[in-house]
Amino acid sequence: STSTPVISSPETLSALQAASHQLVHNLQPVAFPTETVYGLGALALNVSATSKIFSTKGRPADNPLIVHVSSFAMLQTLLPQDYVLSDSYTALMKHFWPGALTLLFPSDPKIIPPIITANQPTVAIRMPSHPVARALIAVANAPLAAPSANSSGKPSPTRAEHVLRDLEGKVGIILDGGACGVGLESTVVDGLHADGAIRVLRPGGITVEDIERVLRQEMGVSPKVLVHRRDYRDEVMEATPTTPGMKYRHYSPAVPVYLLYTASPPPDGVQRLEADEFLASLQDKGDGKRPVKVGILAPSDSPLGTCSLPMDGLEWTRFSLGPTAEPSVTAHLLFDGLLTLERQGVDLILIEEVEEEREGLAVMNRVKKAAGESRWIQFNSNG
Ligand code: TXA
Ligand code: MG
Repeated sequence: STSTPVISSPETLSALQAASHQLVHNLQPVAFPTETVYGLGALALNVSATSKIFSTKGRPADNPLIVHVSSFAMLQTLLPQDYVLSDSYTALMKHFWPGALTLLFPSDPKIIPPIITANQPTVAIRMPSHPVARALIAVANAPLAAPSANSSGKPSPTRAEHVLRDLEGKVGIILDGGACGVGLESTVVDGLHADGAIRVLRPGGITVEDIERVLRQEMGVSPKVLVHRRDYRDEVMEATPTTPGMKYRHYSPAVPVYLLYTASPPPDGVQRLEADEFLASLQDKGDGKRPVKVGILAPSDSPLGTCSLPMDGLEWTRFSLGPTAEPSVTAHLLFDGLLTLERQGVDLILIEEVEEEREGLAVMNRVKKAAGESRWIQFNSNG
């Protein structure tokens, strides 16, 4: 395969011009850092350019893309003439743009090519805060469609080396901006329904708690903020496949991932297993000739993060997700942990549950998909 240049000073004008040349003249996708995860960008308003995003990632055509802008003037060019911002969108943009918040807007197919929206009536738009992302959009002088820069179904990349390992030879340039600060994708919000509610379609870098606080602060009485939780399913979100992408397999490394519930009563349907029973089942996964390599992703001060582990037939590699009191650190490390353990050649990965609060809600959303429902397990350890 042809090698892919990785540019390590992406903020320089020559780097930005080289990347912009790929985008604007060659209509080729470019991988670039954002504050959430690395994106695979292409000219949003050019169908030939955006179609290469789908082919490079192996992405299904019915999964719409987020359009990235670098200014409010650029946003304005993407919206229908008669569209007026709601008070809640004004408040959210004031506090979270630029940043890890994606908003749905009505889409005019004469402005936004339907390949971007997968023929939906809405378009998802965000203004990233990462200086390289902002500068690249500004130098290209055009909005960029950008999904995460990974093959469809894999964990999202948070370092340039993750992109290189996955997409080497398939992408023209990788701008290396170091590790992404947030580490999880943006929060996708739909505030377009007549009931005025704010629906969180995908939890992400901006927390539900922060959205509620800002709306209360700016509007006095906050509109309802709705998000799927264990004890709440929203009918409107259920009825319309508003985030079509969420139905696909996601965030899965090449090896099986198990989600272990160690604290709270787990959701219905989760298998209950005693720790020794489960560990014995792992020993059975080997060929008997070498130990089974087990990767563990767990907070540093949690039951799995601190327990001593039996060695018989098992070889452990632990990757810390930071202290339980700091879910933003867990968010920052999650995808890096999955991809690092995969690269280290583990046979399977165990991830410990975290509390579904603040960034933990988005972390658990990703972990549940990475594992798949049949690998959610209640892990009763007696210390
Ligand atoms: O942080 C992020 O959002 C990253 C960086 C690169 O900006 N991008 C990203 O893109 O995560 P992607 O394509 O991996 O995820 C976009 C999500 C998908 O779940 C997609 O279904 C949803 O946004 N989405 C896009 N347009 C939508 C629309 N019109 N209505 C509902 N959901 C939409
Ligand atoms: Mg993605």
